[in-house]
Amino acid sequence: MPNIHNITRWWSEHTLKGLAALRQALVNQFGEPKEDEVSALAWIAFCRVIIETSSAAFNHVSMSFHDEVTRYEIEQIEYLYLKIVDAIAQSASEDIIAGRATVYFADGREPASINGVKYSHIVTSPPYPNRISYIRELRPYMYWTKFLNTAREAGELDWKAIGGTWGIATSRLCDWESNGVELPDSLKRVVSQIFETEEKNALLMANYVWKYFHDMHLHLQNLRNNLKKGAVLSYIVGNSSFYGVPVHTEKLLEDSLKSLGFTNIGSKVIRKRNSKKELFEYCVYASYQESRKYEPLFLSANQTKGEQLALL
Ligand SMILES: C[S@@+](CC[C@H](N)C(=O)[O-])C[C@H]1O[C@@H](n2cnc3c(N)ncnc32)[C@H](O)[C@@H]1O
Repeated sequence: MPNIHNITRWWSEHTLKGLAALRQALVNQFGEPKEDEVSALAWIAFCRVIIETSSAAFNHVSMSFHDEVTRYEIEQIEYLYLKIVDAIAQSASEDIIAGRATVYFADGREPASINGVKYSHIVTSPPYPNRISYIRELRPYMYWTKFLNTAREAGELDWKAIGGTWGIATSRLCDWESNGVELPDSLKRVVSQIFETEEKNALLMANYVWKYFHDMHLHLQNLRNNLKKGAVLSYIVGNSSFYGVPVHTEKLLEDSLKSLGFTNIGSKVIRKRNSKKELFEYCVYASYQESRKYEPLFLSANQTKGEQLALL
């Protein structure tokens, strides 16, 4: 059984026994989860079972808990697992995926180069400065698959994550200082405004925002070495607000891109977010070593397929 803090908030004692038995059956059949294995699909099905049988609720921006845990019998767990495996097997047999994709493990802030490849287009949705912790959200999977074993490891991993604030990462934020990275003045102004609200956690939140943009700046700075001349960046990000101080993520990232020598910099609203009326998602775009002026093309769901094709 995984070493998750307060585990019976997630699953009843009874359900836990069934999940642990299912886990052991999978280990006996396939061994522990590993990379590059078809058996990973069996573990993905297991991950879906642990979430379906848990009290996790996904009706908020970040995960919360239902008031009560449900008791599942081992037969129900087995039935659910087999149903999910069938659905995955069917989907895997029907869907023909065009092209090839490869997943590499790297820290986006480091000057890592993977096999010397230079990229022509980066399309990504990095974390937003909204205090979502990916470790917090993904703990059940990470612990049950044994990629994480202790709370300390979870905090250490979140400290490496851009915008991470789980466990030890939160306490480290309080006395964190950027060492030597030259950041845009617009960021310094927002950080001071948050700090000056004098709210109880003003220092923590100011440092949180500071470190988020510091890490994104580091990422963009190091990424330049891995870009082809004329490469295009498309980053989907959300804005935010702390104690009424608006944090214009798109503008702050545009300022970082400018100071790092990117060109054709801009942003466009992609959609409204469900949470608060002043929150939007943007596509921040830029190009690298490209003097030709252009604005990227945005296709909208309101356009017909024909209109979209004509634009392309
Ligand atoms: C908003 S999610 C988007 C996931 C995926 N890019 C997508 O578009 O569906 C942000 C992702 O960035 C990852 N991340 C955070 N810090 C990172 C870092 N330092 N290096 C690489 N990835 C990181 C998080 O774990 C999370 O999966």
